[in-house]
Amino acid sequence: MFGLFKSSTWSRCVKGSFTAFRRRCVSHSRRFIGENTEVVGEQSLTPELRLRLFTPSCRFWTERPELWPYEDPYWAIYWPGGQALSRFLLDHPAVCRGQTVLDLGSGCGASAIAAILCGAAHVVANDIDPSNLLCVSPTTSGSPPAAFHLILLGDMFYDQSLATSLHSWLNRCMETHGTKVLIGDPGRAQFEEHAIRRLLRPLAQFELPDSVREENYGLSCSGVWSYTPEL
Ligand SMILES: C[S@@+](CC[C@H](N)C(=O)[O-])C[C@H]1O[C@@H](n2cnc3c(N)ncnc32)[C@H](O)[C@@H]1O
Repeated sequence: MFGLFKSSTWSRCVKGSFTAFRRRCVSHSRRFIGENTEVVGEQSLTPELRLRLFTPSCRFWTERPELWPYEDPYWAIYWPGGQALSRFLLDHPAVCRGQTVLDLGSGCGASAIAAILCGAAHVVANDIDPSNLLCVSPTTSGSPPAAFHLILLGDMFYDQSLATSLHSWLNRCMETHGTKVLIGDPGRAQFEEHAIRRLLRPLAQFELPDSVREENYGLSCSGVWSYTPEL
């Protein structure tokens, strides 16, 4: 049967059906995620941002986790570190205005959205979990820059080995491109005890709203730091 097709025709067919299949999967996933999350925002440090999140009224808040068909949806939670970082950006729009910005581990995308609202020239919301892309669609214009003026990390220091690899990667970005780095964190042990912590300058501290405290097992504050390593 393969012999009936010229290879270019065959490869067009395969590519065409693969693209159609992928489109159907994306549309199915988008619908599933839409049905199992809710657009909210009022109960955070940035009530002006509307985000698609897991809430107590969503089925999977109480459903057996093994029925969730994707990776653990860290992107469906607005983490305290990201809340502080996004609040800081919205309060100080000059930090992002005209800048190229990378929100690394963007999750629900709040800090990327805040950067856009503050007039950033170009924003990339990056996450290792492809599901996040179905919910976060920051608008960007032009092609991505080779290097970013500013890198944002909201609640990315929750794991020791991730923190260590981020630390050396951030050093390279700063040395090579003079990139500025802002970190939001609620004082997690992995952050407080990491070597990077001694090199950070505190910029702001926010008290978390009651509902965020309850969801985060007693964390009460979240802060923003600028990374200024010793030269
Ligand atoms: C604790 S959540 C923080 C999300 C968001 N920044 C916030 O503060 O709400 C961590 C996020 O980082 C993503 N992540 C983990 N490792 C990553 C990596 N190596 N590269 C990009 N994203 C990563 C996870 O998928 C998750 O969405």
